[in-house]
Amino acid sequence: MTLSCNDSVPIRETPAVNLLTSHPADPARPPVPNEPPLAVCNIQGNIIGGFNKDHQTMLFLRVRRDGDVRGHLAAFKRWLHEFVPFIATAEEVLAFNRLFKAIRQRNQAETRTIQATWINIAFSFEALSMLAPNDAEQFTDEAFREGLAKRAVARLGDPADLEMEGNPKNWVFGGPGNEADVVIIVASDDAQDLAATVDRIEASIYGGRSPKGGPLASGVQVVYKQQGATLPLPLTGHEHFGFLDGVSQPAIRGRLSDDPTDVLTLRQNPNDPDQGKPGQDLLWPGEFVFGYAGQKGDATEAEGGVAAKGPDSLVGNAPELARDGSFLVVRRLRQDVAGFHAFLRETAQKLTAKGHDIIADELGARLVGRWKSGAPVLRAPGADLPALAADDCANNNFEFQEPTARIPAAKAGPTQCSDHVFKQSEGDKTGAICPFAGHIRKTYPRDDTGTLSPKIGEVSTQTHRLLRRGIPFGQPYFEPKDASKTPDDGNRGLVFAAYQTSIVEQFEFVQGSWANNVDFKDARVEGRVQAGHDLIIGQSNANGVRARRCRVSVGGSQIEVEAPVDWVIPTGGGYFFAPSIEALRTLAGSKP
Ligand code: HEM
Repeated sequence: MTLSCNDSVPIRETPAVNLLTSHPADPARPPVPNEPPLAVCNIQGNIIGGFNKDHQTMLFLRVRRDGDVRGHLAAFKRWLHEFVPFIATAEEVLAFNRLFKAIRQRNQAETRTIQATWINIAFSFEALSMLAPNDAEQFTDEAFREGLAKRAVARLGDPADLEMEGNPKNWVFGGPGNEADVVIIVASDDAQDLAATVDRIEASIYGGRSPKGGPLASGVQVVYKQQGATLPLPLTGHEHFGFLDGVSQPAIRGRLSDDPTDVLTLRQNPNDPDQGKPGQDLLWPGEFVFGYAGQKGDATEAEGGVAAKGPDSLVGNAPELARDGSFLVVRRLRQDVAGFHAFLRETAQKLTAKGHDIIADELGARLVGRWKSGAPVLRAPGADLPALAADDCANNNFEFQEPTARIPAAKAGPTQCSDHVFKQSEGDKTGAICPFAGHIRKTYPRDDTGTLSPKIGEVSTQTHRLLRRGIPFGQPYFEPKDASKTPDDGNRGLVFAAYQTSIVEQFEFVQGSWANNVDFKDARVEGRVQAGHDLIIGQSNANGVRARRCRVSVGGSQIEVEAPVDWVIPTGGGYFFAPSIEALRTLAGSKP
């Protein structure tokens, strides 16, 4: 048998479920009649399913503003009408992903038996205001209404200096006057299938031909075409700095049909019915899709705490048209890989010279909160542990405050998790293992609480989660022998993409109130220096200087480290809304 080039990539995912019938006796599929059936035929596939493909192109479009704008808009609606049948639904993507996993488990290797190319679409507020002004007006999310370019400096900390690459004026797309009205995501298992599909879409946009081949003007232009792809071995599944990505995602409650056991997320923790995999709290779907109950952000323990059901995400926030849709944030983030690694090396050397022994890899792991393999530092404090990273039942099973309990093998059935091989987490109340500024602690502080602000706590934290769907762009950077003489000015980075139902409370909150906020969490712990910035994505314009700093614990001492420049540089993006299939038909004028 010829094995594919991805064979050495560890398989870290949910077990394959029975494809055609439900299993009422399966403990991973308990009856949950109180959880809502999700309209999987109406929800776009990338939102709750996740395309999860190796190759992706994003086409950013702008409705033509020259000449007869109303005519261009009418043309775009006709074009959209023909395009809607090509949009992949959650039902198809989830069914494909299940079948793919089933075949892969049978093969015990990567499989090319089935492949797919998926398309999804999303619109800016300005585009919705042109297509459906009365509906657009009912969106209350200020971030979505204003758009990314206007809020990038003030809310996200992007460079205020007009000369800097990261200032929205210099973005490759999405800056002032260059904003995209529409983003089309095309994702495929196969680079050639992807290219052929993108060619067909571009031909329909430029060639006066409809997606079905008939004659038609589209009324739009491509303002930017962003390629993305998973990195080649040995970096497959990792982002450009070298860390495994896509390890932790929120688990979502809800069912795929009227069958009470047909759960979207398997319940694999025998110790906790409110988790998917161990450590992965189940969240109400309204956090990510409009028209469903979300989290109750101020729930008490008596009300169920993190498990408490909150209000419908649509009511008071968005028009009926938004039902089964989701906001999509796209950020094109260039990564200075050489700069990041030089910082780690030089800082580790300086600290070691002062008697605080640390090596570059360990410093990097502390700043992320995971080792390059993906192993969480809370469960592997001293050295990387790739076997832990490869175990999906264990690699998210930790909290920052409380210790975790082992899950004995005796409890595990074929779909249930056990977690007794690796040392459990003891918790880390003082930031001695994972700094409060560590990327995963900043962006999802789990059970961290605030001693200074009662607003910080696990229940409210669960209202600031993101469904991440990013993919790297550009070729990997391999360090030359003399790194100091070769600056990394390459065009590589992450196309960050995330779905949510509030851009203000989710993406902007995570970036602005947590990653950039030196006081999060807790301004001063025991009178020492502030927690500082998330040195991976945190940004600062303080006093016109971009330098950032954070506190790391080395050998029991709290040390402040400073990052003089940014290694993650925003170079484009936009705030979009991904409507349901039905809403797309309405926007295209196909429905009365
Ligand atoms: C180039 C930029 C970025 C890099 C290199 C990066 C890297 C990583 C890595 C290595 C992880 C750990 C693996 C995982 O759980 O998937 C992670 C997790 C995460 N990142 Fe990022 N990230 C970037 C940008 C962002 C941005 C812009 C945000 C949001 C504002 C963000 C939010 C998150 C969240 C929410 C998690 C999961 C935390 C958890 O649940 O434990 N990341 N990121």
